Amino acid sequence: MATAPTTPLGDPLRASEARARSAVLEEQILKDPGRFRVLTGDRPTGRLHLGHYFGTLQNRVRLQDVGVELFVIIADYQVLTDRDVADGLTGHVEELVLDHLAIGVDPERSTIFTHSAVPSLNQLLLPFLSLVSVAELNRNPTVKDEIARSRQSSVSGLMFTYPVHQAADILFCKANVVPVGQDQLPHLEITRTVARRFNDRYGDGTAVFPEPEALLSRAPLLLGTDGTKMSKSRGNAVPLAADADETARLIKGAKTDSERHVSYDPVGRPEVSSLLLLAALCQDRTPEEIAADIGSAGAAALKRTVTESVNTCLAPIRARRALYAQDRGALHRILREGNERARETADATLAEVRAAMQSHY
Ligand code: TRP
Repeated sequence: MATAPTTPLGDPLRASEARARSAVLEEQILKDPGRFRVLTGDRPTGRLHLGHYFGTLQNRVRLQDVGVELFVIIADYQVLTDRDVADGLTGHVEELVLDHLAIGVDPERSTIFTHSAVPSLNQLLLPFLSLVSVAELNRNPTVKDEIARSRQSSVSGLMFTYPVHQAADILFCKANVVPVGQDQLPHLEITRTVARRFNDRYGDGTAVFPEPEALLSRAPLLLGTDGTKMSKSRGNAVPLAADADETARLIKGAKTDSERHVSYDPVGRPEVSSLLLLAALCQDRTPEEIAADIGSAGAAALKRTVTESVNTCLAPIRARRALYAQDRGALHRILREGNERARETADATLAEVRAAMQSHY
């Protein structure tokens, strides 16, 4: 008998619970990395920046390097959720691949791919859509927020359903860990629900899909040069691809305050504190230590320290980026190989899904 979906969506794991769970998960990963497959990724909508680097990108390389299998998705269809045409898409995709190679994602060990190039991944969307109700889709707080901020005059079906597409992104390779920011928790909850309902309905006692868990980033939020959240679309970010001069110029223009003595006080002095945090993340020290070094030398000295720290920290990343950027042919080959590997994985999963659904003819 067909059962109506019963698990409520729209009440995703509260962030504090997710953080506690992430800490446990982190320990398990370090103990037995071979048991974990990680999938995470981004929409190709612009240059990645230092907020991304310290928030998630660095963590991806770390997971790869402790021996976890890593899939990096470039969510090119998802770009169309809030815009009609994906102008400059190829360039954005190339930049994302470059960013990942530059930070140390190893294309021999890890798979970088675009979901539009993997038909069998996209086919999972159809059965998955049957497992969630319209009411559940309606309740997704991240989608609601995106609709509110969208520049489009009407809401497309893709905007409404993309969290289910994202479930296909994650489940096609049976990833069990998804490193994400807090805004993605509702989507991960939908993914878990889809996995659970699929297993209940078609699994015949065995789990076809794991219920993946969120791994929340431990890195605190970096502010942009204008003192609001660092973001691709706000023009306040220091791009990972910036050269040393651009970096110096951007940091020089960053907002500070009029107090000469530099101190770490994220609530009272958010702009100065975020600059201290950035230097601290680059130097692997605490922001308090950096503040003590600078003392009463003022904002100009702080900015010099931040610029030097960022440029030193990014130097090897920039060098690797320059190497890969010289050879677009090799870049495209890496992406094609990633897409091929993702296709093989998705084909195998789709075959299992079709067998479970008795549609294997
Ligand atoms: N929604 C994510 C974002 O906007 C991108 C994304 C697509 C993703 N599919 C994913 C992230 C799967 C993690 C897992 O950044």
